[in-house]
Amino acid sequence: MTQVDVPHGLPMDRDAGPFDPPRAITRLRAARPVSPLVFPDGHEGWLVTGYEEVRQMMADTRFSSRLDLDIVHVPYETGMPAPTEPSPQMPGMFIAMDPPDHGRLRRKLTGAFTVKRMKQLEEHIADIVERQLDHLARLTPPVDLVQEFALPVPSLVICELLGVPYADRGTFQANSAQFMLREQTLEEKMGAYIAVNTYLTELVTSKRAEPGDDILSDLARHEELTVEELTGAAFLLLLAGHETTANMLSLGTFALLEHPSQAAELRADAELLPGAVEELLRYLSVADIFFRYATEDLELGGETITKGSTVVVSLLAANRDPRRFENPDTLDIHRNARGLLSFGHGVHQCLGQQLARIEMRAGFEGLLRRFPTLALAVPAEEVKLRTDMNIYGVHELPVTWTEPAA
Ligand code: HEM
Repeated sequence: MTQVDVPHGLPMDRDAGPFDPPRAITRLRAARPVSPLVFPDGHEGWLVTGYEEVRQMMADTRFSSRLDLDIVHVPYETGMPAPTEPSPQMPGMFIAMDPPDHGRLRRKLTGAFTVKRMKQLEEHIADIVERQLDHLARLTPPVDLVQEFALPVPSLVICELLGVPYADRGTFQANSAQFMLREQTLEEKMGAYIAVNTYLTELVTSKRAEPGDDILSDLARHEELTVEELTGAAFLLLLAGHETTANMLSLGTFALLEHPSQAAELRADAELLPGAVEELLRYLSVADIFFRYATEDLELGGETITKGSTVVVSLLAANRDPRRFENPDTLDIHRNARGLLSFGHGVHQCLGQQLARIEMRAGFEGLLRRFPTLALAVPAEEVKLRTDMNIYGVHELPVTWTEPAA
């Protein structure tokens, strides 16, 4: 094994290009796929970058999730405290819970997100996409694709599914963006958290009193769930349901514009779309960094991780591991990307993955079909990357087109 320095803080700089892992991450994966990592506050933990090691770790619930997404108690990059025990749980946020608590909540939602249920929504989602493309076509370019297309589509979809009025998006979008920011004080994070929480508490309380035909109402019908739990679950679904997909749509469009011959192939043959979406998920891995906490001494990739350690995984690094995917740093829409870890693995594997796939297939298909001359409106180097956010992507994607769109 080649010796590399133990990184201090998570390497974030996209020095190899906007779509590629930081070079330091790639070097670490080759040298030591389970590597020590010094957190900004000085405590030592681990960083897992190898495909097999990431997969193994995510399948093992002795690596607790009770730290992950605990945005209030864990000021992420600003100096994560050395945990002595799992941090307090936020009611209802089952992404940050372990079995059996996790399953108790997740089971009540799996029926709403099955492949079959999502298939039934396919046409409706295609309509939402088409209406948003109509809106886009009415604008005079250049426009920001994030604000005009990539963010509204998943927001409209998740709001409708959950029964959250889209008109209220100002309340939760601005605040969600706030705590997605890495460099945030605890006060700022708390402020944003309380604003969304207050809004959602009122919403789920009214749904419990007068249930409608939506996922949150169905959840509220479970009398054994407290209002705090309903609020936490709503928070998680709302947040997970739009930030990730929005960034896949915008960064994915950027990637396709940078690979014009593959974009042209997709335009010519929509049958290639499902495979292309899988490959974009692998290649971009916008939900990259996740935390776990070792509840006992554990072996991983030949290293001993002691009880109480914080362990960070990079799904992007895993999805670009040459031991799993050939030419991993090449975008190839014809590749079989099966086994990708972009939706995680194990008990927490993404609940909304079928929904996300349907939204992305419809989104990329519609965009390519209706805007045949779509192009970046600024040089690629000027596109603002979300290296400061927990979910990667672009802050803005200025695009233009020459002919009037159909
Ligand atoms: C969990 C990625 C879209 C809801 C996860 C996890 C990943 C992920 C990696 C695992 C987290 C962990 O192990 O700690 C993505 C990506 C998406 C996407 C890349 C879009 C391309 C969605 C959508 C929803 C959703 C549309 C809609 C409801 C959830 C929920 C969890 C989750 C509820 C927690 C599951 C659990 O803890 O059991 N997602 N997601 N996601 N995702 Fe997604």
